[in-house]
Amino acid sequence: MLVTSRSYAEYEAMFDLTELPDSVLDCCAGGAGFTAEAAARGVDAVAVDPTYELPANELVDTVRRSLPAGSAIVDAHAGSFVWHWYGSPERKDELRIEAADRFLQDVSASPERYVPGSLPELPFGDQRFELVLCSHLLFTWSDKYDEEWHLAALRELIRVSRSEVRVFPLVQQGAGDPVPYLPGLLERLSDEVRAEIREVPYEFQAGANEMLVLTRH
Ligand SMILES: C[S@@+](CC[C@H](N)C(=O)[O-])C[C@H]1O[C@@H](n2cnc3c(N)ncnc32)[C@H](O)[C@@H]1O
Repeated sequence: MLVTSRSYAEYEAMFDLTELPDSVLDCCAGGAGFTAEAAARGVDAVAVDPTYELPANELVDTVRRSLPAGSAIVDAHAGSFVWHWYGSPERKDELRIEAADRFLQDVSASPERYVPGSLPELPFGDQRFELVLCSHLLFTWSDKYDEEWHLAALRELIRVSRSEVRVFPLVQQGAGDPVPYLPGLLERLSDEVRAEIREVPYEFQAGANEMLVLTRH
């Protein structure tokens, strides 16, 4: 799996963030620049990812290698991607490179913000974060993780959130195939949380312009 580095601007659009809450968790943050930028705006921002166990030089290599690897996935499924949000492949690469630089600089300056951990068991107390964001792990990699794993992962994201969990996208990586068990999964969670699928002002995989918003009853 790639350790990609989406930018703050991409997170803002993917999760339709109009304002930031007091505290936010980026779960499966990889090399994303979101946490560094949110912290710079005064938010209690934390990033969690299994790769934060890696020695610094390996983390740098892993994040840097993911940029061409990510572009190769896009090239291999060129007909399944649209460019109106980015404008051009060059602009996308520019955002990702800037975000990777921002992430790598912040990891070394403020390592306490970058916590090693893996779903479905996160090293945080109940309701630790106002908002929990999950970009490009759940549903994206549903060829690797099955329905039961997703159920456990969503329950864990809900456990550490005080008000909302937002997940983007709701399709699989590459061609953007739908996730067959998504409707059934939301049905299984319906006694625990309110699930809403909401349109967002971002689209890259064609038709993937919706996020999942989970709120406590
Ligand atoms: C495609 S990247 C997304 C990174 C970032 N959120 C972004 O949008 O650029 C997927 C990330 O999920 C992380 N990951 C893989 N398995 C995980 C798990 N079980 N729990 C949490 N993160 C995981 C990977 O290390 C990788 O950094």
